[in-house]
Amino acid sequence: MKKEQVVNCQFSVWYPLFKKHTIKSLILPIPQNVIDYLFDDGTLVVSGSENNSSQTQTNNSDSDEEDVQVCVCQFPDFKIRVQEAINVLGGRVFPKLNWSAPRDANWIALNSSLQCQSLCDIFLLFKSSDFITHDLTQPFLHCSDDSPDPTINYELVLRKWSELIPGAEFRCFVKENKIIAISQRDYTQHYQHIAKQEDSISSAILEFFRDHIQYQFPDEDFVLDVYRDSSGRVWLIDFNPFGEVTDSFLFTWEELTSGKNLTANQTQEDTALQEGPAFRYTTSEVTVQPSPCLSYRIPRDFLDLTTGEDAYKLIDFLKLVSEMGIKTTETRTSVEKERKLSHRLHSCT
Ligand SMILES: Nc1ncnc2c1ncn2[C@@H]1O[C@H](COP(=O)(O)OP(=O)(O)O)[C@@H](O)[C@H]1O
Ligand SMILES: [Mg+2]
Repeated sequence: MKKEQVVNCQFSVWYPLFKKHTIKSLILPIPQNVIDYLFDDGTLVVSGSENNSSQTQTNNSDSDEEDVQVCVCQFPDFKIRVQEAINVLGGRVFPKLNWSAPRDANWIALNSSLQCQSLCDIFLLFKSSDFITHDLTQPFLHCSDDSPDPTINYELVLRKWSELIPGAEFRCFVKENKIIAISQRDYTQHYQHIAKQEDSISSAILEFFRDHIQYQFPDEDFVLDVYRDSSGRVWLIDFNPFGEVTDSFLFTWEELTSGKNLTANQTQEDTALQEGPAFRYTTSEVTVQPSPCLSYRIPRDFLDLTTGEDAYKLIDFLKLVSEMGIKTTETRTSVEKERKLSHRLHSCT
């Protein structure tokens, strides 16, 4: 994979070319002070008051590390531009940086979703996401050329929020301007309709590709994400580099780059369109797997302990601490605290 290929997959490169076939979006250049803020590990996201930054919450933690709190009010012009764009897009947006969405951080949002209504929602997701950090720090990872990294102008991509059905999303691997493979995108789940409609899904995607994408993207090797809606219409979702930075789902990169014919588990009826690519989907409920983004979350126990969500877990944890004799002089106080806490928690529930 060449650096040029990564550059071409930036949202602002392909969106103007394929606007008609994808979800309505707006692209905002990110000012340097906002990029510095996103880069900085030690800052927290604090909404503060809409108009008065003096109402920003203070950090009450005992931690030695002083976290610097940055309020969105500190970027007033950017905040206004983002809010205007969100309003134009109907009030709810799906945010991305040049290449990636913060898919690994949805658990941190109050609504457990990537749906954002304000700059504060966006910052919370971006600052919690390893995928966003990848875009910021190593966008050219796995590139084979030694040339200096091209300059990147970071941009905030806001896409109109759309309720996409995961079973209707497909990833197409395009080599020398031909689709060589199609994979179900949400491969952890088994969707009955895919097997039933295999032929029509495949031909709808091939037709869409032939009519709107083929030879029109600046590269001949790339990975295309598409969505087939309930009326059978195919939409473009994203372009990704043809290489290891892109998830190969039900294929392996070895297979995709070997040049060998991939086995297609289908018969392509309309051979005039293109030779049938290999089409893989999850066939049986036995293969249901956990979501790939689960590993980015913090352990459930940890969350329950910090929020006091599960009183019994908290009590067990405190018991364990006292049993281990940590701070023996404080044991009695901690048992006392535990009793008080357990009393308080029980009276809350
Ligand atoms: N506009 C949107 N509204 C709601 N969900 C979206 C939208 N665009 C994409 N998604 C969902 O988010 C997922 C990731 O989007 P994508 O643009 O491919 O990001 P990435 O390149 O980081 O994987 C998609 O598979 C889709 O389920
Ligand atoms: Mg992508």
